[in-house]
Amino acid sequence: MNYVEALQKRYSVKKFDKDKKIPAEILNDILEAGKLSASSLGLQPYRMIVVESDEMKEKLIPTFYNPSQISTCSHLVVIITKKKIDETYIGNYFNHISETREISLENLQPFKKSIDFYMTLNSDEEMLHWNEKQGYLVLANLMFAAALEKVDTCPMEGFKPEEISEILEIDNETEKVTVTLALGYRAEDDIFQNFKKVRKPNERLFKFI
Ligand SMILES: Cc1cc2nc3c(=O)[nH]c(=O)nc-3n(C[C@H](O)[C@H](O)[C@H](O)COP(=O)(O)O)c2cc1C
Repeated sequence: MNYVEALQKRYSVKKFDKDKKIPAEILNDILEAGKLSASSLGLQPYRMIVVESDEMKEKLIPTFYNPSQISTCSHLVVIITKKKIDETYIGNYFNHISETREISLENLQPFKKSIDFYMTLNSDEEMLHWNEKQGYLVLANLMFAAALEKVDTCPMEGFKPEEISEILEIDNETEKVTVTLALGYRAEDDIFQNFKKVRKPNERLFKFI
């Protein structure tokens, strides 16, 4: 399927077909697309919890303002952002680059210095905001890949993050639940699939210069 067609067909599902589960190979490919997301400085300041058990979905239902997607989806991806990027995290990142690309840590020093300097420029609040933006790129890639796989999705940030953190045992001191993505297959009677897309006309969206 052409990717524009796939994006036209996608919509934010309100009700999935509870009986249809995403096959493991397709889910793995979608998650791989999320993993391959670009992130600023390559730091990937996030991780994901993939909820597939019905029992866990049940527990999470009360934490969402519109829970119909959670009770019917095949999988729920919870994107969790790091609040702070500390020296240990950066050190581990450089060890990883060094091993993967077979470059000595010494030769990576100029890059490391520039990252260390960048980390001094922003407040904790700005850093969290910056980290969360990286998480949204993952969200977009997951949605795009899913659309190409004819898997339906609903991005969701209408939830109570502290309550999700408690259920998923996420430490609020160090991490924040940023955004979630419900995945599955649209229910035949989800009326939202019939609605026309509401998007700004090109002349208000793009300026060619
Ligand atoms: C970051 C983000 C958060 C969203 N949160 C919710 C949500 O909590 N619940 C919901 O039903 N839809 C949510 N949406 C879906 C939007 O309402 C939807 O994308 C928008 O109205 C455009 O419609 P479409 O996705 O069907 O084309 C969210 C979308 C994005 C990108």
